[in-house]
Amino acid sequence: MSDRLIQLREDFDRELSAVATDADATALRDRWVGRKSGVVTAEMKTLGSFSPEERKVAGARLNEFKSYVEAAIEKLQADFAARREAEQLAKERIDVTLPGRRPPAGHLHPITLLRQKVEDIFVSMGYTIEDGPEIETNFYNFAALNIPDNHPARSPQDTFYLRGEGDNTLALRSQTSTVQIHAMQRRTPPLRVIAPGRVFRRDTPDATHNPMFYQVEGLLVDRHVTLGDLKGTVEEFVRRLFGPETQTRFRPSYFPFVEPGAEIDYTCFKCGGTGCRVCKGSGWIEMGGSGMVHPNVLRVVGIDPDEYSGFAFGLGLDRLCALMYGLDDIRLLYENDVRFLEQFK
Ligand code: FA5
Repeated sequence: MSDRLIQLREDFDRELSAVATDADATALRDRWVGRKSGVVTAEMKTLGSFSPEERKVAGARLNEFKSYVEAAIEKLQADFAARREAEQLAKERIDVTLPGRRPPAGHLHPITLLRQKVEDIFVSMGYTIEDGPEIETNFYNFAALNIPDNHPARSPQDTFYLRGEGDNTLALRSQTSTVQIHAMQRRTPPLRVIAPGRVFRRDTPDATHNPMFYQVEGLLVDRHVTLGDLKGTVEEFVRRLFGPETQTRFRPSYFPFVEPGAEIDYTCFKCGGTGCRVCKGSGWIEMGGSGMVHPNVLRVVGIDPDEYSGFAFGLGLDRLCALMYGLDDIRLLYENDVRFLEQFK
């Protein structure tokens, strides 16, 4: 090997041993075997001044040196790549023997829990669960329920109207009493149904009001049904739901689809009946309306009021829920605050 080549190899080896990074290796390759300005390339160019004999020998040696340089740099780069891959693998290592993370299990919403309890009680008393649409025509919302054209419940200040005209006007149902009509159209007496579901009213939210809430409708139609049957049924239901100490009272009231009509109250959950802010000092909380099905309603669905009679009731589930769980504001039910909901597991 010529002195020149020995010198070049020493230089290269020194620079090679100083390479610390992948970028250094690339720079070293460019410096030594780069096409335009590499040291070896420049060396090749000097061969032109050699005699043919010398050129042959020197060219072969230079090529050998070039191969040596390229192989050394390639090996270095392969080492860097292998090290990078090993580091990456170490970083992404997964310990498959670690126990898995269990996703937190959900549970039923308090309204659903209560609805199921109410359903169980009535099913055990021989009632069937009936479903009805949340969007209804004026016929089901009002006309079939004996609600006259000028009744305030029909006012757009109370009801969420959608579209349409006359009896076909569509609105969000404001009470589950609409399902009474569907049930009597689908079935023939004797019939006993309850219909839980959502209803919608233009009510301003406060501790006892929401614009969307749940009701459970009850309807029984048979021969010789009396107001005594209604009272006995509601009292039995309340006793089974809250225990024997809860008191109920019936207050005469007016609903166009019943005659006579009564408001059902129960003793206040907050004060137990002595009077407080929640019950506005009265000791009682309104649970819902009830009464004997109006003959006009029976006639609309083709049931003869001289042969059959019936009772109906409609309970507000949200306020019942407040009673059961000691809530002082029903708006909590729809805030979706996990800290609140977690308490009902
Ligand atoms: C009715 O809706 C009648 N359909 C009940 C009925 C059925 C009477 C069958 C006769 C025969 P009322 O408007 O009073 O009645 O509502 C019933 C219950 O729903 C109330 O007692 C109350 O518990 C609940 N409620 C009414 N408005 C709201 C509201 N904005 N937010 C939460 N609950 C409400």
